[in-house]
Amino acid sequence: MELGGTRTRGSRTMLFLVLVLMMIMAAAKAASGEGDVGDHDHEQFLKLWTERDGDIGKDYLNWDGDEEEEDGDDDEELEQVMSSAAKCRPTGRNVVNVDSFGAAGDGCSDDTEAFLDAWKKACSLNNAVFLVPGGRRYKVGAARFIGPCKNRMIIQIQGTIVAPEEPSEWDPKSPRLWLLFSGLSGVRIQGGGVIDGSGSKWWANSCKIDRSKPCKGAPTALTIDSCRGVRIHNLHLQNAQQMHLTVSRSRDIRLAGIHVDSPEDSPNTDGIHVADSTAVTILSSRISTGDDCISISNGSFAVKMKGIDCGPGHGISIGSLGQGGTFAAVEAVSLDGAWIHGAMNGVRIKTWQGGAGYVRNVRFANVVVDDVDHPIVIDQFYCDSRNPCHNQTSNVKVSNVMYRNITGTSRRAEAIRLACSDAVPCVDIVLSDINLLREDGAEVEMVCNCAMGFDYGRVRPAADCLRTSPCGGGVSPDVHPDDEDDDKIRHTEL
Ligand SMILES: *[C@@H]1O[C@H](CO)[C@@H](O)[C@H](O)[C@H]1NC(C)=O
Ligand SMILES: *[C@@H]1O[C@H](CO)[C@@H](O)[C@H](O)[C@H]1NC(C)=O
Ligand SMILES: *[C@@H]1O[C@H](CO)[C@@H](O)[C@H](O)[C@H]1NC(C)=O
Repeated sequence: MELGGTRTRGSRTMLFLVLVLMMIMAAAKAASGEGDVGDHDHEQFLKLWTERDGDIGKDYLNWDGDEEEEDGDDDEELEQVMSSAAKCRPTGRNVVNVDSFGAAGDGCSDDTEAFLDAWKKACSLNNAVFLVPGGRRYKVGAARFIGPCKNRMIIQIQGTIVAPEEPSEWDPKSPRLWLLFSGLSGVRIQGGGVIDGSGSKWWANSCKIDRSKPCKGAPTALTIDSCRGVRIHNLHLQNAQQMHLTVSRSRDIRLAGIHVDSPEDSPNTDGIHVADSTAVTILSSRISTGDDCISISNGSFAVKMKGIDCGPGHGISIGSLGQGGTFAAVEAVSLDGAWIHGAMNGVRIKTWQGGAGYVRNVRFANVVVDDVDHPIVIDQFYCDSRNPCHNQTSNVKVSNVMYRNITGTSRRAEAIRLACSDAVPCVDIVLSDINLLREDGAEVEMVCNCAMGFDYGRVRPAADCLRTSPCGGGVSPDVHPDDEDDDKIRHTEL
């Protein structure tokens, strides 16, 4: 009896010790964030990470070869051309200077005609340089620079091109466009100059600023439409009337060293907007503005972004898509390397209830967020109208979206919000190596609705809701504060 009792007590103690040990091990495992990493997750992660769908954007994860052609050659060549031109020595380049066509460059006279005349000339010559000289301000109204042109044109903007200030005097035939470049191929736009939309009066007229005003679109400062193989390198855009730089209906476009600068409270002033375009690369660009730093909308495929400095602004967005029951398609978008600071969102996908189509194969990687309201957002309840939107039985399907190595600070407790539609849940959403905290070091949270996928590696805040995917009322779209006062016209394309 005595002996048996001792044995029982002994084995109970043993059992207790084993249990304690197991709990300690489990806690350590959970703390290291590896609790859920099994072989299955690893395989699934690799499969999804490298997944390719058809031909579209086959190489969207492959950054090799992107740096192959450096624009340096042309800069050097241009310098030679410019100094030779100054000395009246002949060169292989045909320099067409807007000054030779009567541009005053005094910031007051209207130089629109001079620019268009110079364009006509430059466009008719091989190896032309359309030159906007430095150290001067050219006031230019709505202008269309249309191709096709002869081969190897360079548009060299060294000075400042400034828009007329008065919306009431704007050319009514061009309500949404200021400087349009269209139908060009193999052209370079460069020179380190400034494109200034003088937007302040347009902003004051916006229905977002003055609720008594009707919601009307304003011009986009620089539009690249129906172009191929165009390179834009080293340009400053500021104070756009609405969006700064739009790439639409184009293919193989490369933007590098673009600086966008507008006030945080300027309405609808997206930095770079991509629509209906394939193979667009945006490199090493710095954007501070009042709306999305970069927005990628319908019909965009194989869009790569690398080295983006964004803030203030609304972050880097895909969407909005599917408004008014429309079909939308966006595929193969990747962001590799960004610093997003003092912004409303970090990386975001936004779709409307009732839309159709898809957003798929998206990678957001290597992003540092600093003082960002909501670093990671999928919002399928996007409602940018003054009337409430109702839940519907269709939506733009979001699938295969990966977030990898996203770290930094969130301004709000709700750092990650995956609000997917009940009717069309998000699938294959993967979070990997995420570390988000409040500025003061407090923990943040992640909320989901119908978001299916998994976490891999260390993920903080914990991604439990992604694994268990609650559906139906997981989030309350109606109280979400973002963009509550955006108007309907924000992303109207050409
Ligand atoms: C969106 O893009 C797709 C594919 O490019 C096109 O078929 C569709 O009509 C577009 N939707 C809208 C609303 O423009
Ligand atoms: C994570 O992203 C940051 C910012 O781009 C980068 O500096 C860092 O090297 C990345 N870490 C890994 C492991 O790739
Ligand atoms: C729409 O669906 C979401 C998610 O299920 C839910 O939280 C929300 O209350 C619904 N909104 C309306 C207006 O029914």
